[in-house]
Amino acid sequence: MVKMETAELETDLSLFKYDNLEQLPPRYRDLDGAERTERIEAALEELGDDVVILGHNYQRREIVEHADFVGDSYQLSKQAAEADAEYVVFGGVTFMAESADIITDDDQTVILPSMEASCPMAGMAEALQVDSAWAEITAAAPDADIIPITYMNSYADLKAFCASQGGLVCTSSNAHRAFEYAFERGDKVLFLPDKHLGENTAYRMGMEDQIVEWDPWDPEGKDADEVAEHDVVLWDGYCQVHERFRVDHVEQIRADHPDANVIVHPECRREVVEAADKAGSTATICETIENAAPGDTWAIGTEIHLTNHLQRWHPEVNVLPLCGDACMDCNAMRQIDPNYLTWVLEELVEGRERNVIEVAPEEKDLAKVALDRMLEI
Ligand code: 13P
Ligand code: SF4
Repeated sequence: MVKMETAELETDLSLFKYDNLEQLPPRYRDLDGAERTERIEAALEELGDDVVILGHNYQRREIVEHADFVGDSYQLSKQAAEADAEYVVFGGVTFMAESADIITDDDQTVILPSMEASCPMAGMAEALQVDSAWAEITAAAPDADIIPITYMNSYADLKAFCASQGGLVCTSSNAHRAFEYAFERGDKVLFLPDKHLGENTAYRMGMEDQIVEWDPWDPEGKDADEVAEHDVVLWDGYCQVHERFRVDHVEQIRADHPDANVIVHPECRREVVEAADKAGSTATICETIENAAPGDTWAIGTEIHLTNHLQRWHPEVNVLPLCGDACMDCNAMRQIDPNYLTWVLEELVEGRERNVIEVAPEEKDLAKVALDRMLEI
């Protein structure tokens, strides 16, 4: 297998990757809902085809109702690749906007309305940290070809690192295909940063006895012998929103609603996925509810905004949050509020670009290789 040389990777270990972070001007802070909608619509009218708004399924209602396209991470990256608007305004989190910047042409500009929308899980695998772990992991299995796969929920420098080592990106909808890609080319996989998606995928592939965890923060949690003996090495990262779901939530829902079906996101713990009837990306969750028969009951284990959207979009289906009031919203996704959207759009009308996401050129080309490999599998 041909491996490219490791890229020069630079990482500042801060939560916010961009130094052009701009806060909402005070005059936008207390906009009235109706006035705000009118102003967003007026700005969109003015901007016409120059702008496209992409919205992740976890965005709040006031964002998704203005989006040209709403979907999961995979669908949004495809939409970004196909977009020909000059401006792509991303209702999502930093890693999604970065991916859009990598995939779009150089003359297109990606705007993340609030630069504070940073996914904590992406921050759990910093490229510098992975670089040093990589040296330990490869030394543990010197004869093996190890392919790194990073979940889309990671920063561009880590995507670039994975490409440099023959690896690729995946989302929750194609992680199994990324595993297939990797095992066609190598002997072992290092999966980052979400250990639950990695574990759920390994189970789906029948590789449950091949799993070992690598805890970069715990010297005891890094066992070279274990790495040598197992083919799926899982980085110890996780999503706080999805780790919250437990098996007793599934049991309680089934006790309270004996006819309920349960669907969860594969970022949930293994035992929760096992207890559920179905697991899948946010797009799979949407399709499942779209295809449900009127009167069916589905309990959903994912970020609460999506569950709320599905209740609104499909009143004929009984859609329940899997853990009731304890279901969380995603703090990072929540940073994109409609006041920010109003501001960045009105600034564009005035010819000013705010909160532009621009991946460093030295990371961009390699990160694109990792994303293109994903789009091709
Ligand atoms: P999807 O790829 O399923 O949309 O998930 C993205 C995400 O961030 C889940 O937490
Ligand atoms: Fe990150 Fe979890 Fe939020 Fe998804 S739901 S963006 S993984 S924190």
